Amino acid sequence: MTRIGGLQAKRVSPGYYDAVAASAQIRPFPSPVNDPRWLNTAAKWFSQGRWVLEVGPGRGEFAEAVIRRGGPERYYLVDISQGMLDLVRLRTSLESEVERVFLHADIDSDPLEEILDGCLDRIIMINAFQDVDPKAVLKTFRRVVAPQGLLRVNVISRKFREEFLSQDENFDRDQGQFYLTRCPAEGVEPLGFLRREGGEEVPYYRILKSYYSSDLREIFHESGFEIVSAEPIVIPREIWAKTAAGRKMSEVQEDILRRFGGYPGSVDIIARPI
Ligand SMILES: C[S@@+](CC[C@H](N)C(=O)[O-])C[C@H]1O[C@@H](n2cnc3c(N)ncnc32)[C@H](O)[C@@H]1O
Repeated sequence: MTRIGGLQAKRVSPGYYDAVAASAQIRPFPSPVNDPRWLNTAAKWFSQGRWVLEVGPGRGEFAEAVIRRGGPERYYLVDISQGMLDLVRLRTSLESEVERVFLHADIDSDPLEEILDGCLDRIIMINAFQDVDPKAVLKTFRRVVAPQGLLRVNVISRKFREEFLSQDENFDRDQGQFYLTRCPAEGVEPLGFLRREGGEEVPYYRILKSYYSSDLREIFHESGFEIVSAEPIVIPREIWAKTAAGRKMSEVQEDILRRFGGYPGSVDIIARPI
């Protein structure tokens, strides 16, 4: 497979997520927020912070759990898609003491100057690390995290992709990235095209970047963070099957689900500033 066009740095456009947000067909993202066990423990962890930040809240499943639980005094929610942000605002319009601050921003290029240096006890970015420029994002997180604060992100495992999904025609083994060729909703512009062996050209709409754990340790360290834990996330089979990625499973995916009792594609990373 050769990639043609779409050589811009971005891995996804805001229009992609705006179209998903506006789509009448609601398919959950293949995210741990759809697993109530993960959701509850992560919301408890996050609610221990006084001032907190979530980047890429999507449809707001996590935000709702946090606001229902209470805990944070101020909750910043940042998203590149106004459509997604509107969904979260609606979903979290519950009576609560938690002050909600919505910021429409691209975390790759916006340094979030509205947020003071070193003021955040908890930062979380769920199922979005594959979309962003890691160094730019970690630089901003390092500025705003409190000295005793913690950062949590889940990252697609490149080792897992290579071991189990390297034969997938949309996986670029050299770059460790996967091209999403299914149009998520009407009206979304392709980011570029792939040329298959027979010459067929296929549009793609998003690039999902995966990482080796050794690369992550290096990127985090260079950005002033130390990884304190890295646990695999296994999304239970019945939950995976309801998500956008589990809609039409290949034999290989079925085999993975049987083997692991769920989909173990990402790693839950917690890091502290150094
Ligand atoms: C795959 S969705 C995940 C949503 C939710 N966290 C979940 O796990 O279901 C990625 C989210 O990150 C947002 N996002 C992607 N790139 C971003 C960027 N550069 N800056 C801010 N938000 C971004 C998207 O708009 C979307 O809400």
